[in-house]
Amino acid sequence: MTEPSAVAAAYLRAKTAGFGYSSEPLAGQLLATLSAAVRPGGRILELGTGAGAGLAWISHGLGDRRDVQVVSVECDEDLAAAVRDAGLPDRFEVLTGDAEALLPDLGTFDLIFADAPAGKWTGLDLTIAALADGGVLFVDDMDPGRYTEPEHVAIVAGIRRTLVEHDDLVTTDLPVGSGFILAVRR
Ligand SMILES: C[S@@+](CC[C@H](N)C(=O)[O-])C[C@H]1O[C@@H](n2cnc3c(N)ncnc32)[C@H](O)[C@@H]1O
Repeated sequence: MTEPSAVAAAYLRAKTAGFGYSSEPLAGQLLATLSAAVRPGGRILELGTGAGAGLAWISHGLGDRRDVQVVSVECDEDLAAAVRDAGLPDRFEVLTGDAEALLPDLGTFDLIFADAPAGKWTGLDLTIAALADGGVLFVDDMDPGRYTEPEHVAIVAGIRRTLVEHDDLVTTDLPVGSGFILAVRR
């Protein structure tokens, strides 16, 4: 997949802001593909907006569709404002706040990209609860080899275990990129 112009703009925005945590293109391509598969009238949630690369990939996946609502949550007010100021497609919104605090009131989603510590490293149960029936949860950065601190390796192992052993989820490891896991609510 060639890099869409909105994605290139988001990577440039990240570079300019000195933000080094944007999703890699492989994760973005998967996110775009999963977004394209969201049911008509569905909802997508991203935890951790960053500089907007994930949103740009989601927008690429949705193309001209305007039936899908997209919500992204970012705790850093400057990052959130920069992404809003750059212009969001219709039905996209960036909420400023702590993902774990906001999650219980956001409703359910057909696709969740959990890309912040909140809602993944902590509060994963809240994210799982926000997954609609048939909904897809995508987490990246799951390759334990990325982490040097034993505590971080243990947290990543705990996330994987929670998803794999959850009675209501069907989960698969994709050992590519930063280490992807997809979990679908039955
Ligand atoms: C890996 S970056 C997100 C990258 C973005 N999703 C992308 O695809 O390029 C993680 C983001 O989560 C944000 N974050 C950290 N703690 C958070 C929290 N408690 N609630 C919401 N966002 C948080 C950080 O400020 C950072 O922008």
